[in-house]
Amino acid sequence: MKGIILAGGKGTRLYPMTKVISKQLLPIFDKPMIYYPLSTLMLASIKDVLIISTPKDLPLYKELLGDGSKIGMNICYKEQTHPNGLAEAFILGEEFIGNDDVCLVLGDNVFYGANFTTLLNEAKNNLTGAYIFGCPVKNPSDFGIVEFDEEGNVLSLEEKPKIPKSDYAVPGLYFYDNSVIEIAKNITPSARGELEITSVNNEYLKRNKLKVQLFSRGIAWLDTGTVANMLKASEFVESVQNNQGQYVSCIEEIAWRRGFISDDDLKKLGEELKMTDYGKYILSLLKEEK
Ligand code: DAU
Repeated sequence: MKGIILAGGKGTRLYPMTKVISKQLLPIFDKPMIYYPLSTLMLASIKDVLIISTPKDLPLYKELLGDGSKIGMNICYKEQTHPNGLAEAFILGEEFIGNDDVCLVLGDNVFYGANFTTLLNEAKNNLTGAYIFGCPVKNPSDFGIVEFDEEGNVLSLEEKPKIPKSDYAVPGLYFYDNSVIEIAKNITPSARGELEITSVNNEYLKRNKLKVQLFSRGIAWLDTGTVANMLKASEFVESVQNNQGQYVSCIEEIAWRRGFISDDDLKKLGEELKMTDYGKYILSLLKEEK
């Protein structure tokens, strides 16, 4: 399975913070935002990742993550010249995806919690079309919304409805089979001129090939698309890390625990950052049992 991170967009909702820098390079507590979606793909044991961003910002992502080999990954890059919508990821990524299945994660979505890896594995292993998630929210009009009947069957999916039919939002984490490329090529842009991911999901629903798995209470999903939500996410990460002493989305740690890199590789990565708590944390891992 291949992985795509969408890290483009104009970030206008975060101006002036994002006037000269891409939103997904801004920090959530102690690391760049993109570390969080990248770690989601790594937890799903996806090693081949395409990062999509604007022509202006892409060089910065390359500088930050390179070809991914330092953390045992293969990372490549693709420009999105205009923010034409989330579904454009599959058109831009056609060659990269090849004949594989694909997982798309939005660059501003943070996931953390108990059994998250199990959930990812279930999605990967039970994919027969589209496998997406549902999570209750207080502001459903800001998201893609899924409506269920009493038996839990999906009735409808709507993008940012003015009058939402449910409180269940669809988080920015989507698993698809290879037909997503053909589906993305055939959907029409919405009234706001975007190729909506909700249109892709609706097509799978029409084909009877959409699975929506609800998040359990133990999983935190944070969309960091607004200034207030960035602060909330930073506070969340700070609180987990400082109370429990375990880092959230430390990509070096995940690479090591997943066996993508050796003890020696981890030591080198820790040494490079040893002037920071982040680097000290990496080095401390070598003293414990895997
Ligand atoms: O966060 C989950 C929500 O994400 C879903 O519930 C919605 O169905 C989905 O449409 C999306 O809504 P947003 O309003 O949060 O999408 P936004 O325009 O903020 O874009 C999400 C990320 O993708 C953000 O990091 C910018 C990036 N992006 C966006 C567009 C439209 C791109 O890289 N290219 C694009 O063309």
